[in-house]
Amino acid sequence: MSDAPNNGANEPNQPPVKKKKVNAARQREHIDPDEGVRPLPWFLVMFLGAMAMWGAFYIYITPSGEDSAFGDQRTVADLRPPLPAEGAVDGKQVFAAKCVACHQGTGLGVAGVFPPLVGSEWVLGDEKILANILLHGVNGEMEVKGVVYKGAMPAWKTLNDDELTAVINYIRSDWGNKAPPIKADTIKTQRAATASRTQPYAGGAELKSETKSDPK
Ligand code: HEC
Repeated sequence: MSDAPNNGANEPNQPPVKKKKVNAARQREHIDPDEGVRPLPWFLVMFLGAMAMWGAFYIYITPSGEDSAFGDQRTVADLRPPLPAEGAVDGKQVFAAKCVACHQGTGLGVAGVFPPLVGSEWVLGDEKILANILLHGVNGEMEVKGVVYKGAMPAWKTLNDDELTAVINYIRSDWGNKAPPIKADTIKTQRAATASRTQPYAGGAELKSETKSDPK
């Protein structure tokens, strides 16, 4: 027996396998894939084209706007939000439209210039005085929560009774204010009682004295 290095091929006891096995394994492998040119099948292209044409045609023949025959049958009227009941006014909206510029959305006003409505004795107090403030405005000194303001609060008699009632009830109940709501009658009565007034109130003192001398 020779001591020559055994490469496995000519050793009778061992099968001359190694090289062959590798080749067999190689041969079993798949060929590397290559990128072929495979265009979309013609029927798919035709189908997509037909769909696009049908879509365009459908949009073209479908009337937009009023006719809901093609849709879920709801009309424009169905989609509108429900109208508020006759005469109902949203006080918050009036506030946002007329008062927010000065008294601010927080109701805190602007320190030293526009008085706060939050916790204000005028807002939470006598509803007749409050109605008068709104109807005719104030131009002069008035104390609010211990601070004296000397500004000009415009008159709002152009707003109707419902609007004034709504905005008053809003400022009496938002931002943690808790005063009972007033009735539209209060505005009506005060509007009639002060009908001759053309000037704003000259300040807190006049506001108070006017309702004091009120017979009611
Ligand atoms: C142009 C700014 C301005 C607008 C707009 C305005 N106010 Fe005033 N308001 C004032 C000023 C200034 C005073 C203080 C008047 C004074 O110093 O004589 C005041 C005072 C008041 C007071 C009494 C004092 C207090 O703070 O409680 C109330 C209540 C009030 N306003 C409510 C309203 C409501 C409600 C509206 C909207 C409908 C409104 N104001 C719109 C400037 C304004």
